[in-house]
Amino acid sequence: MDIQKVGVVGAGTMGNGIAHVFARQGYGVVLCDIEQTFLERALGTIGKNLEREVARQKLAPEARDAALARIQTSTARGALAACDFVVEAATERFETKAELFRELDSICRQNVALASNTSSISITRLAAQTRRPERVIGMHFFNPVPVMKLVEVVRGLATSDETFHQVRELAVRLGKTPVEVSDAPGFVSNRVLMPLLNEAMYAVMEGVATPEAVDEVFKLGMAHPMGPLTLADFIGLDVCLDIMRVLENGLGDPKYRPCPLLVKMVDAGWLGRKSGRGFYKY
Ligand code: 3HC
Repeated sequence: MDIQKVGVVGAGTMGNGIAHVFARQGYGVVLCDIEQTFLERALGTIGKNLEREVARQKLAPEARDAALARIQTSTARGALAACDFVVEAATERFETKAELFRELDSICRQNVALASNTSSISITRLAAQTRRPERVIGMHFFNPVPVMKLVEVVRGLATSDETFHQVRELAVRLGKTPVEVSDAPGFVSNRVLMPLLNEAMYAVMEGVATPEAVDEVFKLGMAHPMGPLTLADFIGLDVCLDIMRVLENGLGDPKYRPCPLLVKMVDAGWLGRKSGRGFYKY
């Protein structure tokens, strides 16, 4: 099926990045969120990030303007009825996403594939909320979406080959590299990354080293672009905690127990960069 218009549900960090890359590539985008202020903030962020690309001569100013003009925003999910493909990037909670998939199933045409950018929730369970489980798939982007090359393409138990090939091709058209992964808690990326970040938090909690020292070890010793605690702040500590809980519940191994310091920081509202405080102050 020819895809011209793409729906993006959720205008947070991931949603605005996903809208950015589709619009830049020439797709019409319908960006949906529950509040107009979230949509306005997302458009501001997309404008700023497109401007970075103009400043670095990766994008012509006319292409930036055209990309922005391709993004339509709406607080009414009915606007998604016009879309040929939808990516959901809402809050990382099963109930929120399940409710959304049920609604998308009733709004979108029967042959439209519904993708989730979930970082850890079961695609198979989300698919089971719909009458089109063969058209449901995971399309997991990485932050910052305009920069990171990877798209983890996650096949649920019922995902058809047609849906898989369509999403893989779409990722390539966006200039990304798709990697096929089966449905399992945390897929590959977060099953391996999050325990690393969680362990770095234990090292801080136990007084083994300061956040700065832990980060230096990884930047200088392993050539990571960001140390694990800077990265955790960048991802959002609430998101890290949600993913650790999915790993703990889904895999049932105590090695996935969230670090108590992480739990405490989230309880305090120290969510990392977005709240102004995490392992560092911003
Ligand atoms: N939009 C567009 N371009 C952006 C951007 C954005 N949001 N953020 C950075 N850039 C561009 C910059 O303009 C710059 O372009 P250039 O190469 O042409 O100069 C380039 O990216 C590098 O940016 P900076 O020079 O500002 O800064 P750094 O060199 O420090 O790079 C970084 C920033 C790309 C964020 C780098 O630190 C990095 O790769 N960090 C690791 C990020 C990571 O691991 N992400 C995955 C998180 S896990 C995840 O998303 C999964 C989820 O499920 C939890």
